[in-house]
Amino acid sequence: MTTHNLLLLPGDGIGPEVMAEVKRVIAFFNEQGPDKFTFDEGLVGGACYDAHKVSITDETMEKAKAADAVIFGAVGGPKWDKVDYDVRPEAGLLRLRKDLALYANLRPAVTYPALASASSLKPELVEGLDIMILRELTGGVYFGEPKTITDLGNGQKRAIDTQVYDSYEIERIGRVAFELARKRRNKVTSMEKRNVMKSGLLWNEVITALHAREFKDVQLEHQLADSGGMQLVRNPKQFDVIVTDNLFGDILSDIAAMLTGSLGMLASASLGEVDPKTKRRKALYEPVHGSAPDIAGKGLANPIAMIASFGMALRYSFDLGKQADMIDEAIAATLDKGFRTGDIAAPGEKTVGTSEMGSAILAELAAQV
Ligand code: IPM
Ligand code: MG
Repeated sequence: MTTHNLLLLPGDGIGPEVMAEVKRVIAFFNEQGPDKFTFDEGLVGGACYDAHKVSITDETMEKAKAADAVIFGAVGGPKWDKVDYDVRPEAGLLRLRKDLALYANLRPAVTYPALASASSLKPELVEGLDIMILRELTGGVYFGEPKTITDLGNGQKRAIDTQVYDSYEIERIGRVAFELARKRRNKVTSMEKRNVMKSGLLWNEVITALHAREFKDVQLEHQLADSGGMQLVRNPKQFDVIVTDNLFGDILSDIAAMLTGSLGMLASASLGEVDPKTKRRKALYEPVHGSAPDIAGKGLANPIAMIASFGMALRYSFDLGKQADMIDEAIAATLDKGFRTGDIAAPGEKTVGTSEMGSAILAELAAQV
């Protein structure tokens, strides 16, 4: 029997509440098999800052490197608005992404049939929607140097962020995009701003060349990122895989998430390079939603994105596609039966809390065996 070692990092706000539901799902699969999961837990974000004055400790980083997968909740909140930039809660997440070299961020946006009416768009635009936003995660303006605020001495200050991409970074994320598309509807839309940015020009050039060299069988289309954002809300079903840089991907994936009815629905996987020896890749799984401090601690949060993120771990880290499908089906069935947390409820609809939603999903899982 195979045993997988997980590191759970619940983080801040609703993170611990939604992670508690994942622990129940882990317990379910430990009973059912075929594989076993053990897990360790650590602090990250504001929770870690309160205990250690940093947003992630070196010790936790070592555990993350050693784990077969990291399952991450959410970080941040108004409580830490004033802490130094280097130790702000988000820095812990960014360090995990960078130090584990998790350059490929998969953010699927799938509309569950029962929720088409929860979208802010007309149901016919989002019914059956299934797109994959592939966001470059370790480069671009998030990490480029210099990154400074300088006092100009004349009462003015100057802030600099640097958008920087090397061709190898664009090529490796492009390769992930084309390979994903081959297993889906075989179409890639690459988004950048080549009309104003040098990095956009290079992005376009590298993706075009890679396509011509290795992926001619896949349909490739280029869109400027602003117009791509407009198309995402005008006619989202035109897309299959969207590949884009770190910052545009951050923005476009929030938009895509909302198409599905709520940010509380969208899971994500962040993957590194495959190790040629072990055939394993470093990986972190997290919901796209944030720590939602306004509802934290009240048992109101929607655990679906967190549970679906664990499902992605089963699929992408452990080759447990069947078990991942079970989770997706359990979520869909739970929604079909009318279970709604506040974020996805129509006005007047009855809502359930975090653990009730978790129980309903577990009951649907159990019903499948
Ligand atoms: C995300 C988040 C992060 C990001 C924050 C928390 C640093 O918005 O994962 O989309 O900007 O990447
Ligand atoms: Mg974001």
